[in-house]
Amino acid sequence: MQQLGAGNLRAIEIGVTSRCNFRCSYCGAYDLLERKILSVDDVASVIDTLPDLERVKLSGGEVLLEFEICEGIIKLCTERGISTQINSNGTLLNEEKFDRLEAAGLDVLHFSLNHTDAQSHSAFYKVTEKMFPKIVYSVQRAVESPTIDAVVETILFNETEKRMTEVHRFAADLGVRKHEIQMEIPSLHQGYENTMTRDALADAIVDLVSHRDPRTELYFSCLSAYFHAGTEHWKRLQPYFSADPGVIYSSCIEGKAQLHLHSNGDVMICELGNPDVIGNVFETDMLSIYNTSDRLKAFVHSKHDEGSFSCFRHFDFPGQTEAQKAEGGPTLLPLPTVRGK
Ligand SMILES: C[S@@+](CC[C@H](N)C(=O)[O-])C[C@H]1O[C@@H](n2cnc3c(N)ncnc32)[C@H](O)[C@@H]1O
Ligand code: SF4
Repeated sequence: MQQLGAGNLRAIEIGVTSRCNFRCSYCGAYDLLERKILSVDDVASVIDTLPDLERVKLSGGEVLLEFEICEGIIKLCTERGISTQINSNGTLLNEEKFDRLEAAGLDVLHFSLNHTDAQSHSAFYKVTEKMFPKIVYSVQRAVESPTIDAVVETILFNETEKRMTEVHRFAADLGVRKHEIQMEIPSLHQGYENTMTRDALADAIVDLVSHRDPRTELYFSCLSAYFHAGTEHWKRLQPYFSADPGVIYSSCIEGKAQLHLHSNGDVMICELGNPDVIGNVFETDMLSIYNTSDRLKAFVHSKHDEGSFSCFRHFDFPGQTEAQKAEGGPTLLPLPTVRGK
C-alpha cells in the first residue's frame, strides 16, 4: 500500500467529467451540469505546478465516458512517474480499451461492486441485467492484467448491510486481492433517514471481518467519520482490526495530502464527504489554493489536528452549536457547488 505523507499535496482526484451512465441513489457526484470537461492540457498545467504529486485518481461521474482524455492523462502521469488510478462502474470497458490503458501505464482500476448477481443489481440500479456481466468481465480482465491492479469497492449501507460477506467472497472468487469497504457518505439523494446507525454498522463490520477470505485484504475507508477513537463502538471494533493484518483502515488524507479537482476547475476538499469549493484552477494555481485557503486550514485543523469533527456534516460540522449536536438530527448538506458553465 502506498503511504502518503502529511503536509504536502501528494495526491489529487480529478473529476474529468461528472457525466454518468448510471444514476446511483446514494451518489452526489453525477451530472452536476457544469458542462466543462477538463482537457489533457488543462490537467497537464495543474500537475506541473505540484512538485510533491505522487498519485492521480480519475473519478467522476463515469470518467471512462471520456476515454481519450483519461488515456491522455494516464500517459502524461506515467511520463512524470506519477501513479494513476481510475474509478469506474465497470460497464464501459472492452479488450481494446484495456490494451490501451495498459499501454498508457495505468496502475489501478477500481470498480464499484455492491451486488453478486444480475437480478439484484438490475433491480437496485434500475438498469438492464446486461450491465452486471459487463462489470464482472471488467473485474476479471483487470485481475488478469499483468500491469494493472484490480480493486473492488463496496459501500456499507442498508442495501449491502446483510450481504457484505457474500459480496466479499464473490470479489475474492473473481481473483480480487484488495476489497475496499467504503463507509456510506450520507447524501441528499439517498435520503439521510436511510443512513445506518453506528450499532448496525459495527455489527456488519464485525461479521465481515470475522469471515474475511484469507486471499483478499479488507481495506476500510472513512471509518473515522463514524467511529472516533476512544468511543465504545471503537473499543468494540479495534480488537478485530489489530488481530488480523489483512484488515486495514486507512487514515483519511482529504484536505491534508489530497484535493479534488472538479471538471469546471473548482477545487474541493473532498468531493463526496466535504464538497467545499476552495478555489478554481482557472483563476489561481492549485498549490496556492492548497497553501493559502483559510477554509482548508480550518478543515485540516478541526478534522486532522484536533480530530474534533467527523467531516460528514450530517453528524458533526465546524461551527455546530452544542444544542444542535445534542439534538443529533440530520443536518442537510448541500450538493457540491458548481460554478461557471
Ligand atoms: C462517485 S463514484 C465515481 C466512479 C464510478 N462512476 C463508480 O461508480 O465507481 C466513486 C466512488 O464513490 C462511491 N460513492 C458514491 N456515492 C457514495 C456515498 N454516498 N457514500 C459512499 N461512497 C459513495 C462509489 O461507490 C464509487 O466507488
Ligand atoms: S456512483 Fe459512479 S456510477 Fe453511480 S451515479 Fe455516481 S458516478 Fe455514476
